[in-house]
This record gives sequence, structure tokens and C-alpha cells, in this order.
Amino acid sequence: MWDFPLFPKQGSSFASQVDAIYAALWLTSGFFMVLIATLLVVFAIRFHHSQKRDRKLAEHKTALLEAVLIGGPTLIALGIFFWAAAVFFHTQQAPDDAMEVYVVAKQWMWKVQHPGGQREINALHLPVGRAVKLTMTSQDVIHSFYVPAFRVKQDVLPGRYTTLWFQPTEVGEYHLFCAEYCGLEHSRMIGKIVVMSPSDYEAWLGPGGAGPLGEAGTLSSAGGQVFAHLACNNCHVADSALRAPRLQGLFGSQVKLASGQTVIADEGYIRESVLDPNAKIVAGYPSPSLMPTFKSQISEDQLIELIEYIKLLSAAGMVGDERQPPAPGVELTPAPTPANREESNQP
Ligand code: CUA
Repeated sequence: MWDFPLFPKQGSSFASQVDAIYAALWLTSGFFMVLIATLLVVFAIRFHHSQKRDRKLAEHKTALLEAVLIGGPTLIALGIFFWAAAVFFHTQQAPDDAMEVYVVAKQWMWKVQHPGGQREINALHLPVGRAVKLTMTSQDVIHSFYVPAFRVKQDVLPGRYTTLWFQPTEVGEYHLFCAEYCGLEHSRMIGKIVVMSPSDYEAWLGPGGAGPLGEAGTLSSAGGQVFAHLACNNCHVADSALRAPRLQGLFGSQVKLASGQTVIADEGYIRESVLDPNAKIVAGYPSPSLMPTFKSQISEDQLIELIEYIKLLSAAGMVGDERQPPAPGVELTPAPTPANREESNQP
């Protein structure tokens, strides 16, 4: 009978929560609209000038009535505010075990990078039922990552990372839109989110997780090559904290800065420190920083790879962790001699 959908399908764990708030806003507004409009019409008729009515001001006390009229709407508005704020904070805080995916937006496409090395353009393949955290940036102007079925939207900004998480609940294909006017072909900056069953997703990842594009190597191993190519290991040596701060155990830790502040070493901190080493100097190191900026030498894609490599180094640096960074050409120990430094400078 009625098959024109007012809402997109509910495709994520947020969808029903967001829809419930939306419905509550509609019902509350609708209730008061009908109430006020009805009273308006009733009183207009009742107190029409042709009617003989008592038009003297009411003399009885109105304190209780006023308390209800002020308190009622205040409680309703605050109730909706706290309810929506709770959902909002939930949507802003990705769970720790979320799968991580990187998104780089540019005029006019979405570039997606999985930690396993899979790369996609205008598509994102995901397993159903698993929380996903997107770390996103833009190569040019502001874009906005919008998946109506998941009830999520997040601006994607040049020069910084923004994050977004969600948990797809149903297998299917969903529209991805750019929701920020970003130039001539903004309306064509679209893509699809493909949510698959876990077994289909494994099959899509392919043997060894190389992905359908046949790209070998994980993001972190590519990051290891960037690390070697830019000769980061000349100073960031595992056993020496003299020339540059240790990267082992760094990611996610608290870093004390020369300014006395403490920051969390997250993706944004690492990105900033590579591009602008003077922005946040670690306590105990000289200012200005000995490290040059790598602004003109590294792309957003390479920054993401480098961050994944530093995450791996961080994990490898933890006590009792046997994992070794598999990056080619990178000697973690000992400090590089001129001979192996020459070697590790090769891309
Ligand atoms: Cu990108 Cu609009």
C-alpha cells in the first residue's frame, strides 16, 4: 500500500537509537502543535466579539498553573537533551576492539585503506556485527562522510584526523555520500558500503589477506618502508633515547611535553609531529626541534602507513610481546652504522 520509504533501512546499531530520538522530537512537537492550534481555534470561537462572555481578568491564584507551564516543557526539553547527549557520546567513543580502517577523501573520491593492505576506491567492505572505527582526513577541502542507513555523518577535514565508528547489523549494500559541498563533482562523490557475512568477508580479504586488488603487504610494512626511506631510523633508534624520543611503546601512551602539558600519543599527535616537529616538543628534548619537517616529502597515504608502523613498533616495544616489526630494511637495534644507514635509506 505504502512503499515509499520515509527512512533509510536501519543498518547499524545506532540506527534505532537515533530514530527513537527523532520520533520523540516529532511526537513532542506534534503534540504541542495540535494542542496549541486546537486551543487557538476554540478560544477564537468562544471569545468571538458576538459572544457574551465574562472578559474580566481571572482573580484566582495561578502559581500552580505557572509552575506546570514552566516546569513541564523545561523537563521535557532537558530530558530530550540528556537522552540525545547520551546517544551522542556513545557514537563518539569507539570501543577498544573496533576494527580500524583509514579513509582519505579528495576531490572527488573516497580512498579506503585497510590495515591488512587492502585498498578501495569509493567502496568499503566490512563484516557484519563488528564495530568499525574510521580515521579520516582530506587531501584538499572539507568533505563529509555520510551513511544514512547507519545514521552517521562526520566531516572530513584537511590537516587533521577525524574519527567515526559504527557497527553494521545487517548484510547488504548501503549508500555512502559526501555531505559537504566540495566542488564541481560533489554530487558524484558517492560510494557504497558492502556489509558481508564473516565468511564472505574472509573470502573477500583473499588468501593471506592480500585483498581483491592483489596488493601485497600490510599498511604497517608499507609504513616500515616509508620509515626507512625517510631515514627516520637514523635518530629514532630503539635503544637510544638520546637523539630522539623512543617510538617503542609510544602509541597510545601519555607523553610529557616541554611545555609541561601531557598529551596522548594518538594518530593526530604522530601526524602533527611528522609534519610540524616543533608543535609539541617532548620534555627533555631541545627546542627548536632537531627534526626537520617532512611536510613536502610525505603524502596523507604514507602518513597513515607510517602511523600503522609506529603502532606496530609500539606493540613490539611492550614487555613480553614477541611480535617483531616485519619492516624490510629497518634495523631496530643497534644504532645504525654508516654502512647499514646507507642500506636502510633505500626505499
Ligand atoms: Cu566531497 Cu562533497
